Amino acid sequence: MTLTVKEAGLALADPKAYADDRRFHESLALLRRESPVHLVEAPDYNPFWAITRHEDGLEIERNHQIFLNAPRPLLATKELDRLNRERAEQGIALRTLIHMDDPDHRVIRAIGADWFRPRAMRALEPRVKELAKRYVDRMADLGGECDFAREIAVHFPLYVILSLLGLPESDFDRMLKLTQELFGGDDDEFQRGTTNEEKLQVLLDFFAYFQGLTEARRKNPTDDLASAIANARVDGEPLNDFDTASYYVIIATAGHDTTSATISGGLHALIENPGQRERLRDRPELMPFAVDEMIRWVTPVKEFMRTAAEDYELRGVTIREGESVLLSYPSANRDEDVFDDPFRFDVGRDPNRHLAFGFGVHYCLGAALARIEVRAFFEELLPRLRSIELAGAPENIATTFVGGLKHLPIRYSLD
Ligand code: HEM
Repeated sequence: MTLTVKEAGLALADPKAYADDRRFHESLALLRRESPVHLVEAPDYNPFWAITRHEDGLEIERNHQIFLNAPRPLLATKELDRLNRERAEQGIALRTLIHMDDPDHRVIRAIGADWFRPRAMRALEPRVKELAKRYVDRMADLGGECDFAREIAVHFPLYVILSLLGLPESDFDRMLKLTQELFGGDDDEFQRGTTNEEKLQVLLDFFAYFQGLTEARRKNPTDDLASAIANARVDGEPLNDFDTASYYVIIATAGHDTTSATISGGLHALIENPGQRERLRDRPELMPFAVDEMIRWVTPVKEFMRTAAEDYELRGVTIREGESVLLSYPSANRDEDVFDDPFRFDVGRDPNRHLAFGFGVHYCLGAALARIEVRAFFEELLPRLRSIELAGAPENIATTFVGGLKHLPIRYSLD
């Protein structure tokens, strides 16, 4: 059955469509070709323009004074959009960097920015390598068969980011569960419940946890990132409780599901492409290129949105003031006009101008950290890997936001 442009657009508002790689990419390719600035009117969602070409995504991100993150930074149902707006008006909603625009955004981003600069990241590298080794050793301990996504990939980046924040190891499992509930809100396996109240309760649980952390770090400052956030001053005043908790939430959540999805998807690509796996093992100097190719290939952040502050003309289409655009990163990263043979996984791809980390003022704060983690993991794994194959069918999470493989059953032998 041939896909229509309308159906292709609707796929962008259907969490289950994101879990089906082939159908999803067919839809995106059709939109790029036939309707790159495409109005999607899905029953449960407020309308939005789907932006599927790389060039257009860049143009919108560059124009951050016209295309604002507030009030609709990412795709949510009509009902959730309404609830979020109500809560924002009452001052009790999540307000992270991705919910903000300048001037607030610039000031608040600066609080955490030093912690993620490449120099700070290089200092963290030995610790990340040590953790990578711990998780490859765990693969060996599992005896040659595991669900890589669940048993390995999900834990390693979590451990890195929560250590950086300064949380005790005893709380890591609780954070993992809360993050999965927050991002997996549309997936039967991970969601806490189906009502909006249950979904919001997940956020309130995050807040309650981090409230305690703020109090502890204000009383006894330490040298971790949580202390830097708890004790930051803007115009001489500390951040309010919601802004402080929101900061932890974005670091704790953005910092691990994204990277773990990249590691699982990267390994899956290496299993499916044994020639590329051998090439990378024989030429370890390709690793930085391979890391970026894995990030492009997986593109774990599926979208962010912007809302126009004034009328704007794009490819002959007028986006009216107050209308929203959805930036489809997976589509930009398969754009035939920018990438040579975009559906080929190439560990030596160069250039690789992927948009998986976004662009401009909201460019991913953790990009350097994510690259170090992915690199450390594969630099540890590949030289020890003698054989690897699938031991069952891989499965993606159903989500319109952050995701990738939730199950990757593998069989392997390690030195
Ligand atoms: C492969 C892994 C990752 C990917 C693909 C990714 C992707 C993204 C994307 C697409 C954005 C939005 C950019 C934009 O709007 O232009 C973003 C923002 C952000 N990311 Fe990441 N991310 C990853 C890992 C991380 C890590 C490890 C952290 C660590 C804390 C992190 C923290 C953040 C933060 C704080 C923001 C908000 C920045 C802002 O709005 O100013 N991310 N990320």
